[in-house]
Amino acid sequence: MWEVVVVGSVNADLVIGVDRRPAPGETVLGSDLVVHPGGKGANQAVAAARLGGRTGIVGRVGDDGHGRLLRDALAADGVDLAHLATTSGPSGVALITVGPDGDNSIIVSPGANARLTPADVAAARDMIAGAAVVSFQLEVPLPAVQAAARTAAAAGGRVVLNLSPPAPVPTDLLALCDPLVVNEHEAAYLLGGGEPGEPAALAGALLKRGPRSVVVTLGADGVLVADASGTAHVPSPKVEAVDTTGAGDAFTAALCLRLARGDGLSDAAAYAARAGAAAVRRPGAQPSYPTPAELP
Ligand code: RIB
Ligand code: NA
Repeated sequence: MWEVVVVGSVNADLVIGVDRRPAPGETVLGSDLVVHPGGKGANQAVAAARLGGRTGIVGRVGDDGHGRLLRDALAADGVDLAHLATTSGPSGVALITVGPDGDNSIIVSPGANARLTPADVAAARDMIAGAAVVSFQLEVPLPAVQAAARTAAAAGGRVVLNLSPPAPVPTDLLALCDPLVVNEHEAAYLLGGGEPGEPAALAGALLKRGPRSVVVTLGADGVLVADASGTAHVPSPKVEAVDTTGAGDAFTAALCLRLARGDGLSDAAAYAARAGAAAVRRPGAQPSYPTPAELP
């Protein structure tokens, strides 16, 4: 019924362009403020829907102005909102600075996202169990993620987890991931900190932690995919980076969509790399996500 269901966060992104970020105690001037719909969960849902996927989201927004904006943005892209609840209090907000190279740094205030519970997941059971792929990130509470991942797996759905932002994950959740999606820093975090090592070694070490498959994103250097049958490198199209915010969410959403449609992991990753590359070419997260015709 649904190709991709996302269980995750919905944030208002408050974005300011800066030449450089302030040190503690320092003030710098930036660009005009822009407010975009964001949140890793909502970003994935919009990205999958814009690529043509039948998509739903399980999440929470606040009863403030941001909540209305966020709901409208998801609706405009055709995301099924039957299980997007409204909580009294503020919506999630992300304070984002974008630097001259399109690099970003983000502080998230979870707001309503922090109130997503296993009871919300139980209420969304039909949607979660009816999805080919259920996608997770870590901006909503772990008990909700665990409950939904179990529901998805028990119904024969495929569980995809993006370990972002990095946080401890129980072994039984990791064992459901097919794939676990990480960048090099998230990979290093999961493996116990330290500097990111050689990517191929990382992928092998991550597989030993129990996920059925692993996808390591390497930015402009492409993607590494690994499962029991081996490791493969998938290149990314070369593009000029304007704003990398949410490019990883576009990547993961596209990966989920192609997995839902029956692609193998390498083919899905190659398609996803095109979606991620498209997203860095334009400002913002959701506003930059491609339709199929816009893929490089
Ligand atoms: O991955 C990018 C997203 O991270 C932003 O949209 C922001 O809301 C934070 O969740
Ligand atoms: Na972008």
